[in-house]
Amino acid sequence: MSVTGKSKVITTHKLVEMKKQGEKIVMLTAYDYTMASIIDEALGVDIVLVGDSAANVMAGHETTLPMTLDQMIYHAQSVVRAVKNPMIVVDLPFGSYQGNSKKALSSAIRIMKESSADAVKLEGGEEVLDSVRRILSAGIPVMGHLGLMPQSINKYGTYVVRAKEEEEAEKLIRDSHLLEEEGCFAIVLEKIPADLGARVAKELAIPLIGIGAGGGVDGQVLVSHDMLGLNKSFTPRFLRRYANLRENMLEAFSNYIKDVKSGDFPDKSEEY
Ligand code: KIV
Repeated sequence: MSVTGKSKVITTHKLVEMKKQGEKIVMLTAYDYTMASIIDEALGVDIVLVGDSAANVMAGHETTLPMTLDQMIYHAQSVVRAVKNPMIVVDLPFGSYQGNSKKALSSAIRIMKESSADAVKLEGGEEVLDSVRRILSAGIPVMGHLGLMPQSINKYGTYVVRAKEEEEAEKLIRDSHLLEEEGCFAIVLEKIPADLGARVAKELAIPLIGIGAGGGVDGQVLVSHDMLGLNKSFTPRFLRRYANLRENMLEAFSNYIKDVKSGDFPDKSEEY
């Protein structure tokens, strides 16, 4: 159910059906009401992710680690007010689920109760299975996240492509099966070789949503701010820019500055 009381069109069941039918799944991030309402209006986005990438694009942090549960709930509430049909998935932030399944459950319950989102996402495989199990036991759908896991950046030390070596690729395959067996309804695969993404997508019945995981997976996700060209500095190979909003905004701000300084704004038609 959405906050309007209407049933959601995109459900976990529908996503699995889409995979069966070979229909690609479209996912985008949103953190605020206005962006979410534009995404909703575009029609055709299946999942809106309230990602902890909010730490980077909204708050200017270098990593996603500083994000708090309260901040995620605030962003999720804003998005839920705007989105009608797509499923809304909210990231469990760093420190809210690792190593403590009871804490994981209470974090997930807070997100669901206080934001009315549809599901949560968390990073990791075998090491977070207890948390996944306990969250699922409360009837909360869980999306997994493997490959590059930004919450573990201090362990990796770098944002380069993951699972290029056999050992890490084997672990990723094992983890993806474990997450599916445990009951996750989908998994995000971030920044891994395309052939590995395609292999996992073939082996699993649940959808695999890629970001830098090639075209052989079941759907794609991008950070909205990145695909809209709001950032200049983030230029990974997987990022296709669909707009150049930073340039458009700079031009608008410059014109406004010019008009205020010159006295051109406001004119008679803009006065009371
Ligand atoms: O936080 C986020 O935006 C994400 C996506 C990159 C998948 O996890």
